[in-house]
Amino acid sequence: MTSRIILRAPTALGRQLIRGQHTMSAFEMQHKTPLTKRIDPIPVAMYGGRQAVSMLPGGGIGPELMSYVRDVFKYAGAPVDFETVDIDPNSESNDDLDYAITSIKRNGVAIKGNIETKSKSAETLSRNVAIRNELDLYVNVLHCKSYPGLPARQKNIDLMIIRQNTEGEYAMLEHECIDGVIESMKVVTASNSERVARFAFEFAKRNGRKKITTIHKANIMKLSDGLFLETSKRIAKEYPEIEHNEMIIDNCCMQLVSNPHQFDVMLMTNLYGSIVSNVCCGLIGGAGLLSGRNYGDHYAIFEPATRNTGKAIAGKNVANPIAMLNAGIDMLHHLGHVQHADLITKAMVKTICEDKIHTPDLGGTAKSTDVIQNIIDYILTVDVRPW
Ligand code: NAI
Repeated sequence: MTSRIILRAPTALGRQLIRGQHTMSAFEMQHKTPLTKRIDPIPVAMYGGRQAVSMLPGGGIGPELMSYVRDVFKYAGAPVDFETVDIDPNSESNDDLDYAITSIKRNGVAIKGNIETKSKSAETLSRNVAIRNELDLYVNVLHCKSYPGLPARQKNIDLMIIRQNTEGEYAMLEHECIDGVIESMKVVTASNSERVARFAFEFAKRNGRKKITTIHKANIMKLSDGLFLETSKRIAKEYPEIEHNEMIIDNCCMQLVSNPHQFDVMLMTNLYGSIVSNVCCGLIGGAGLLSGRNYGDHYAIFEPATRNTGKAIAGKNVANPIAMLNAGIDMLHHLGHVQHADLITKAMVKTICEDKIHTPDLGGTAKSTDVIQNIIDYILTVDVRPW
């Protein structure tokens, strides 16, 4: 028996959909946009709706900053439970590290301070690098945006740094080939260069960014940075709506200090990313303000942008809590808790931009706990609540 395919003419609705002319019927309209005004309730943390996240406080100011994040999240009602994992900086063994990685794999998400690795042995890997590599967090994203009214070297900055996060100069492959001669490998692969370039262009496209500048040193490192640069040029051809240019890292540092407003999205390898991130943080107010996001295909880690330990100011109640709090806000966005993220953001902006409760790094005299108390006070008032 031969089967026959019956071709039916599309319905009126189908024809409208095909032509992109579909207008909603009253019934559809009512169900899409109910006439009764929807009241947004205070988000309720549902049992089973809470998200477990790994918290790696790290050394220096990390533990105190994490305690502020916990406090603020508690008052904001963020439906997040922290699994705290400490890594002993003196240990030569990798047991703590392995546990931390397992915890992040289980939870999918982590907030972290800078983890110290005290061993000077070339055999002992930086815990921070090992975590990023093991979880394949191939991109680091930093949104460098000025806070109005804060003391800063440059005003009205709004740029993105997109940094390759797992290779380049951080390969940690060094050896002494003969006495007094050290060789250090910088590893650049086509696949990771493409992944990070594609991430940057997709990011720009989705977020209305207009221009990407690839930062490199391909005039000297012709093969490694050359590959990174050529890959970004190739990917750029797929995104004709986004302007693409290039700049040598040395010039980039000078341009950042003198005219940072020319940059929109900056794409670069790992070490340049670390340096440029620190320059940008310095331009808008220092290490205590901004956060950085580490993404891979499966996991995400949120942390202060400059990844410092701040050891000299630890335990003195003077560290600026904003960078770690911003990391927490990024994490809430990532988890989809947008209302909680907005609530904390508004309370934080009012505290630092309007009330000007500033820790010493911003020229103020406030204690870290004063900043946090002010933020919590705002959270407890209704006027910053988005609902
Ligand atoms: P650091 O920890 O001495 O910090 C640099 C400056 O920023 C200090 O004056 C510190 O007091 C200040 N600072 C940092 N966080 C602050 C905060 N929340 N509030 C107020 N002031 C704050 O930085 P350093 O010497 O660069 O690094 C120390 C450790 O961090 C080293 O183990 C290093 O490997 C690690 N590290 C640093 C990175 C960087 O980009 N600077 C990146 C990755 C690791």
